[in-house]
Amino acid sequence: MPATSAKPFPARAGTARNRGLEHAVQSDPGSFRILTGDRPTGPLHIGHLFGTLENRVRLQELGVELLVLIADYQTITDRVAPVRLAHDVEGLVADYLAVGIDPDRAIIFTHSQVPELNQLILPFLSLISVAELGRNPTVKDEIAMIGGGSTSALMFTYPAHQAADILFCHANLVPVGKDQLPHLELTRTIARRFNERYSPDVPYFPEPEALLSRTPLLLGLDGRKMGKSRGNSIPLAASADETARLIRGAKTDSERRITYEPERRPEVSNLLEIASLSLGRPPGEIANEIGDAGAAALKRVVLDALSEHLGPIRSRREELVQEPDYLRSVLQRGNALAREIASTTLGDVQELMHTSY
Ligand code: TRP
Repeated sequence: MPATSAKPFPARAGTARNRGLEHAVQSDPGSFRILTGDRPTGPLHIGHLFGTLENRVRLQELGVELLVLIADYQTITDRVAPVRLAHDVEGLVADYLAVGIDPDRAIIFTHSQVPELNQLILPFLSLISVAELGRNPTVKDEIAMIGGGSTSALMFTYPAHQAADILFCHANLVPVGKDQLPHLELTRTIARRFNERYSPDVPYFPEPEALLSRTPLLLGLDGRKMGKSRGNSIPLAASADETARLIRGAKTDSERRITYEPERRPEVSNLLEIASLSLGRPPGEIANEIGDAGAAALKRVVLDALSEHLGPIRSRREELVQEPDYLRSVLQRGNALAREIASTTLGDVQELMHTSY
């Protein structure tokens, strides 16, 4: 059952450090609530699948409570809300359900439909300084990428938004990639300062822990960083033919013998990694079996392994996109539940801040 109200923060989880965190989750999954999310800027791909989606499903199956945010307001930090946003949001819901996120247990929701969550940003912004926001390396990188002058204020303040995403539901565990760690640190700072200032006796917000992904970061099929909009990944929505074409076009090198050497042969090793993740076998072992058969044989192995792994996900996804009304109802239910939680939290926050009249 999804929770319908903010749950009191379990004391133990707040002090648990990353080491041993996994053990704590295994032994007492019920004391953890996870908030995780994606920005709806295009279809999810195998990097997401192996890097985070499968882990979310694993944690869900363990009995951890799961909230999945479709961060639609994040897309307007650096662009005009695209006309196809609603379509992308629906696509994400299909991706989630296809990989096994269970809409009866998880809460899937969007920023834009939970006003009470967004209202938390206001007091949160009062707890951090402009300098602290400016120092955030993730924001710095993004700003450098767009070219400083035209950075929106929403981009600059995004870490406070992300803190609201996490704290509105008292999430105490956030599965993230390394690039998101500075955001999480600021979330912890905001939680701590809010507690010190407004709730010194009984801390109101948890200081959430980062759960770092155990899967190595996959490269794109061209050997560069894998990205939703770079055409170098394999979307979960890709057909079997498209997948075959993408893998056939993957960059390799000129050595015939296939070996797993991530530093020296990143492209070949990355393909081995994809096969390894699909088959659940070590990449070196797969390399040995292919031996001198060369890149074409490697690509065949990767395609077979991935097709088998993606097959059921793909067919579930195909069925789901035939039922847009169902997908919308899942999201509407998630939005309603998230709103209940956010209203409770905002009510508490107003009490604590003496602004409840
Ligand atoms: N910033 C994340 C991304 O770019 C998405 C996101 C928004 C998120 N809010 C979050 C992730 C809160 C974890 C927790 O992918």
